[in-house]
Amino acid sequence: MKQDKLFAKLSHVDAPQIKITPPGPKSQEILAYQAANESSVISYSKGMPMAMAKGKGATIEDVDGNIYIDMFSGAGVMAMGHGHPDILKEAHAAIDNVTHTLDIPSPIRQKMVASLKKVLPKELTRVFFGGPTGSDAVEQAIKLAKYNTGRHGVIAFEGAYHGMTGMALALTCDSSHRQGLGPQFPGVQFLPYPYEYRNPFGCPDENVQIQAAENLERVLSDSHSGFEKPAAVILESVQGEGGTIIPAPVFLQRVREICTKHDIVMICDEIQAGIGRTGKMFAFEHGDIVPDIVTMSKALGGLGFPISAIAYREELNTWPAGLTIGTFRGNMIAFAAGSAALEWIQDNDVLEHAAGLGEKCMEKLKELENSSSIVGQVRGLGMMLAIEMVKDKETREPAGDFAKLIRKHAHQRGVMIEVGGHHGNVARLLPPLIITEDLAMKGLEIIAGVIKDIEDGKAS
Ligand SMILES: Cc1ncc(COP(=O)(O)O)c(C=O)c1O
Repeated sequence: MKQDKLFAKLSHVDAPQIKITPPGPKSQEILAYQAANESSVISYSKGMPMAMAKGKGATIEDVDGNIYIDMFSGAGVMAMGHGHPDILKEAHAAIDNVTHTLDIPSPIRQKMVASLKKVLPKELTRVFFGGPTGSDAVEQAIKLAKYNTGRHGVIAFEGAYHGMTGMALALTCDSSHRQGLGPQFPGVQFLPYPYEYRNPFGCPDENVQIQAAENLERVLSDSHSGFEKPAAVILESVQGEGGTIIPAPVFLQRVREICTKHDIVMICDEIQAGIGRTGKMFAFEHGDIVPDIVTMSKALGGLGFPISAIAYREELNTWPAGLTIGTFRGNMIAFAAGSAALEWIQDNDVLEHAAGLGEKCMEKLKELENSSSIVGQVRGLGMMLAIEMVKDKETREPAGDFAKLIRKHAHQRGVMIEVGGHHGNVARLLPPLIITEDLAMKGLEIIAGVIKDIEDGKAS
């Protein structure tokens, strides 16, 4: 890949290096302290038991000296890799000046807004920083839609993940996150997302995309559908936690048309798929559409500094001052790193790299799909890749245990990945966008080896 020479300087090119099967003794000690003192709800360190010492580009070193290829990026946050020197420089400079200003402006804040406006569609004229997490951005987007329409319902899609706070949780489908919580916000209703591999409609697979969109039209135009006219339709432009489900442009386009026709606010949640992850700055660009509101977070803070934002159309800018407030509404270090990252992405052809390398990864993953009896389907767009595991290719019975085994053994062999999907059966890969072809191919090779061992009953 054209940018490999430049990007190679950012990572340990000789990764992975596993000196001792993780978790090594130092990691074990720290993990034991965590288990004894932190909440029982801790989860990532159970799937990938290790204690982290240092990150470098698309690689991570644990406290025992093992070096991993990071194909997880802290759930998509570290798009520019760990410790990117040019971005760090800006963050270091910011920390010596002013770090917290509520929403009082500063040159750094202005730079962040200007950098964002450079990459956003011109129709999205307004930017609002409503809190540090992705969930905060979702809450603010829904609030803005409700305030402007005077309606309170929201339509979301099955398999959606929008966050863990009140409204965002109500819009998140995974029942494991709702256990013991009782009823969620009223007015939220779900429709099937165009998940072709597990076709929810029983129609020919090639019709799933249009069927999913027309289903929205049907419930909105049928007064007996039981759906009230909502304030907003919210969707992930590529569904992430639901299993990296990639809609066809026609689905996004038709949903856009339907929202316009019914005067409903269309919200694209780009918290995971945005900021270059799919090879375009925003995943909705693959459908050549512009939503009314876009949510952003994760990679927006440049190097994992917490920040989130929404951007929206001018006509929605009706909020009176102070209608929605909050203490952490923009962090100067995150702004400095975030704007540096946005500029670096554009100056160094990062989108082109992510798109091109994504295609190469998909060629390799397709070989795996064709050769393995337990890989149901592989999916990918840019650096958002997935392997859906099944017990049987004919029945497509989901194999959640296989996906977890991939995570476990890939980690032991020096590759970090995540598990997701409707049935917990999707191995999800979200490498930093600056990963080199060589590291990406090594990572995929290791994963393919693990899958072969699972298939042969040699990895349990
Ligand atoms: C699409 C999407 N929306 C919202 C969120 C919530 O973000 P946060 O975990 O920062 O609250 C996530 C997190 O994974 C996400 O993937």
